[in-house]
Amino acid sequence: MKLKIAVTGALGYSGTYIAREAHSRGHQVIALTNSPHRENPLSLPIVSLAWDAPVQLEAVLRECDVLINTYWVRFNGKNLSHARALRNTQMLFTAARAAGVKRIVHTSITHPDAYSDLSYFSGKAEAEKYLRELPVPSSILRPALLFGRTPEESILINNMAWALRRFPLVGVFGDGKYRLQPLHVQDFAELALHEAERTDRENAIIEAVGPEIYSFRELWEMIGKAIGKPRKTISVPPWFGWGIARLTGMLFGDVMLTRDEVRALMENRLVVENAEPAGPRSLRVWCEHNAKNLGKDYASELSRRKT
Ligand SMILES: NC(=O)c1ccc[n+]([C@@H]2O[C@H](COP(=O)([O-])OP(=O)(O)OC[C@H]3O[C@@H](n4cnc5c(N)ncnc54)[C@H](OP(=O)(O)O)[C@@H]3O)[C@@H](O)[C@H]2O)c1
Repeated sequence: MKLKIAVTGALGYSGTYIAREAHSRGHQVIALTNSPHRENPLSLPIVSLAWDAPVQLEAVLRECDVLINTYWVRFNGKNLSHARALRNTQMLFTAARAAGVKRIVHTSITHPDAYSDLSYFSGKAEAEKYLRELPVPSSILRPALLFGRTPEESILINNMAWALRRFPLVGVFGDGKYRLQPLHVQDFAELALHEAERTDRENAIIEAVGPEIYSFRELWEMIGKAIGKPRKTISVPPWFGWGIARLTGMLFGDVMLTRDEVRALMENRLVVENAEPAGPRSLRVWCEHNAKNLGKDYASELSRRKT
């Protein structure tokens, strides 16, 4: 059955892959975005997200079978905080429910946690709770870290490679034993579409994690080997490592890593024990395949949003 699917952030990172996958399966996609000026390679119909106009949003969603939501913000900034993103997300879900969409596919995070003082994780937990309490079938996808398809898009992995190319040694925060479970963005898009196409009314929560688990130290080692720049890794105090990342980000007008992201990593929030991989693509194979260009240039998250 061909669907009409509204995708928030359809001109953003994972949203682009979701929109492309939906398109390739013959579905119609409407892009709901805060950035209507962005490149629109699929010429998707665009609706600007008017957070202060729920009735307008509801009218758009009334034409849609499914809502796929990627909307969130990486860190509390001047223009958007996690608290605000949560309110907007709740408004979006309420509008989708009122519009009668058949399913909401929502992007969360591994280990959302209402009791955490990391507002990213507590906000995500609140959003999940709000969604589960609505009488609309939902699929909640919980990725840890997305990578692919290009080095510029795989910001963390690319910037680790960038550092490996430039410095004789690299640091891990503390012991470096905390782990990550990255998923290829195309695997994530296929999972989102698989859930969007469901015809039952069951709810689902899916750990959207990849087939490989790396400790942070192993991740440095794997990337270094893949790009032909094996480096010594040393343990540094988290505040020191974060300070270096902060200075590097500032050099490029970017935020490379926040203190909360370092904490989340060290609290092992980006790995899920005993979860079935949500896709087959390997980060190691991808790094080897992209070795020539990986880390050649610094990839700025903030510039990506401006383009
Ligand atoms: N990327 C990862 O490694 C990763 C890992 C775990 C979980 N996630 C989750 O996966 C989802 C998609 O992530 P993504 O990396 O694909 O995100 P993205 O493309 O950067 O952004 C996704 C959506 O959030 C909006 N957004 C992001 N930052 C914003 C800001 N500062 N102001 C206003 N709107 C903003 C985007 O708005 P526009 O309409 O303007 O594009 C878009 O609708 C998010 O919910 C994220 O929490 C991602």
